[in-house]
Amino acid sequence: MYLSQSEEKILRGDRGWALAKAMKLIVTLGELGDAEKLVSIRKAQISGVSYKTVGDSNLELLEMLAKEKIKTKINATLNPAGMDLDRWEEMGIPQFFAKKQLRICNAYEKLGIKRTCTCTPYLSGNKPSFGEMVGFSESSAIAYVNSVLGAKTNRHGGLDALSAALIGKVPLMGYLLHENRRANLFVNVKFKPKNEADYAALGYFIGKSTQADDVPVFNGLANATPDNLKLLAAASAASGAIALFHVLGVTPEIKRIEKGGITRRLSTIEVTSEVIKSIYDELSANIKPNLIAIGCPHCSLKEIKTIAYMLAGRMIREKMKFWVFTSPQVFSKAEKKGYINMIKTSGGDVFKHTCMVVAPIEEMGFECVLTNSAKASFYIPRLTKNRCQAGLHSLLDCVRLATNK
Ligand code: F3S
Repeated sequence: MYLSQSEEKILRGDRGWALAKAMKLIVTLGELGDAEKLVSIRKAQISGVSYKTVGDSNLELLEMLAKEKIKTKINATLNPAGMDLDRWEEMGIPQFFAKKQLRICNAYEKLGIKRTCTCTPYLSGNKPSFGEMVGFSESSAIAYVNSVLGAKTNRHGGLDALSAALIGKVPLMGYLLHENRRANLFVNVKFKPKNEADYAALGYFIGKSTQADDVPVFNGLANATPDNLKLLAAASAASGAIALFHVLGVTPEIKRIEKGGITRRLSTIEVTSEVIKSIYDELSANIKPNLIAIGCPHCSLKEIKTIAYMLAGRMIREKMKFWVFTSPQVFSKAEKKGYINMIKTSGGDVFKHTCMVVAPIEEMGFECVLTNSAKASFYIPRLTKNRCQAGLHSLLDCVRLATNK
């Protein structure tokens, strides 16, 4: 792979061991992916933030890096942490967890990574433009920015996204190249999605039914909103490895693809209402929920408004928590509009910086969670020591179950 003189110098260690390691990781990725060179980026999203998933060894590594006094010069933002950084006590987060979590966030901040703590950076000041090459980790954000925004990122892990942010470069390969962004799978949607959870179920099914590097093109989703596609993207990247999809008549790159012709050979999958019902059956819980959790991926302002109005005039039942998760930026906007207050008046709550998957919910007494996110329904039982149950329902059903109305 070609490296410029300044890239060679970083790799040799002329700017310290930390940047040399970062460069080494990026160059190794490039060589594995047959990249011809590195390209500069101006945006990155870094996952690996919650103490629940990071653990002590990565915390030590981050603190070692932070001591090196190196800082990213690009717009780099953080994924959700394991708690609301301001209201963790109200969430019931154990103190030992909170202390470690704050150390992780402080270390990232010293490296110049913004403490946005959201998986929807594109709603919070880190939105790539059409065609822009970026270095994103967080599978739901990768699928969203590639597909819905038409930006270009490979599927990075937390450590390589951090390395990319520190050196401001990624290898030119994979989804950054036009030929790898063409669809190879035609998904004929033969049912009409009734609500946002149907989009999540569809994404979950497609993720399960495809191979890594498949690029589906959906037909029959002409009415999909960006929020619908946010849930679809997250689910397809959770149950499988979808990093890019197109939607006929909706996503921006499809027009170019239609014009240039789809040259990759297309196989077809049909999705019927029976298929979607089988996904709801698979993602179902068989005990009573004690937490309703909405916001995986983090809620948009529009979604918070919908929740606020759905809850108006209803009260959350006793012994039930109704929690909404969003970014600090969207939270502030929702607060100004009065939506946070509306949700709280009904007995619900809205937390920032975190979510039901990366918070230590098993240590907070939750045994069963209902959500409108197929990604959360998939991960909650897998990431909790007590295998907390989770079930997929529409937002409206979640509200009805939480309020008995
Ligand atoms: Fe985001 Fe947490 Fe879901 S990080 S995509 S809300 S699992």
